Amino acid sequence: MTMNSLGRSRLRLPTVSVAALAAALVLAAPGPAASDGGEGAPDIAQVTTTFPRAVALGDVEHGRELWEFECAACHEMGRGAEDGIGPQLNRVFGRRAAAIADFPYSDSIIRMGRDGLTWTYRTLDAYIENPYALVSGTRMSYPGLEDADDRADLLAFIRLYSDQPADIPEAEPTARRVEVELPPEVLEIRGDREWGEYLASECTTCHQRDGAAAGIPSITHWPEDRFVVAMHAYREGLRPHSTMQNIARRLEDEDIAALAAYFATIDD
Ligand code: HEC
Ligand code: HEC
Repeated sequence: MTMNSLGRSRLRLPTVSVAALAAALVLAAPGPAASDGGEGAPDIAQVTTTFPRAVALGDVEHGRELWEFECAACHEMGRGAEDGIGPQLNRVFGRRAAAIADFPYSDSIIRMGRDGLTWTYRTLDAYIENPYALVSGTRMSYPGLEDADDRADLLAFIRLYSDQPADIPEAEPTARRVEVELPPEVLEIRGDREWGEYLASECTTCHQRDGAAAGIPSITHWPEDRFVVAMHAYREGLRPHSTMQNIARRLEDEDIAALAAYFATIDD
């Protein structure tokens, strides 16, 4: 690809020691922990104003309406969310039940949390459909949301506030932390941003350009080296998601570097 060779000769290689960089990368590969405030985590304010595109769990806009009508009287989500009548529900996907310190939970839900009840798509769906059926002594006095499509829409909206790939139903639970050791010359490739932009159209059918994470993890504004390591981990099968493996296997090293450069700086 001429575009690549042009791009590479224009740019100087970084001067940092490659060994040091490689060592840092092994520690810094992205994973679920990255969503706890790492650069990969979407800003909550940003998330609230964006909607999923191709792949979604449900209709987020409708989910937002349901949230306002059914849940918001007792629960908060978003920046600065606090406990009210019910606990705040930021990052509830993947959260152990009754995990908010100091919230006066019922004994019943505390016991279930201790027994291992974790909020996933399935358990949330069941709890919202009929709180008492899942947690018999729950203090949540809510009659339940009967319609399965409504629940899917609502969960798609709630999912916006939880950014953990492990909780994507169609991909669960693949988010093991896995590292890949890359030879220095691969890490040295400076990505051609324009080429990356061209290639990115395939990715943005699933990953949203603006970094929102409804159902699909955010891949914008990652440090380039972390992005490169993640893609190689899929290509080598260390990361287990088969769709991403297939996508990564079609990409050359140069392509991955280009995508990393593009997504790192997507809106500047
Ligand atoms: C009338 C107030 C009220 C309404 C309405 C309500 N909740 Fe709750 N919710 C609570 C309370 C109180 C708890 C704590 C339950 C317990 O202690 O057993 C709770 C707990 C939860 C939990 C478990 C949180 C945790 O930390 O384990 C989830 C999830 C949840 N609610 C989701 C929802 C959703 C989604 C809706 C809307 C469909 C909703 N709730 C509507 C009061 C409410
Ligand atoms: C068909 C939908 C789809 C397409 C197209 C797609 N991805 Fe993904 N991608 C996913 C899903 C789902 C995951 C979460 C997989 C997992 O749990 O390991 C993911 C994970 C990732 C991750 C790791 C995210 C994390 O938080 O660990 C990166 C990086 C990534 N994709 C980059 C890309 C790039 C670059 C492209 C385009 C070349 C692309 N993806 C195309 C669905 C897609």
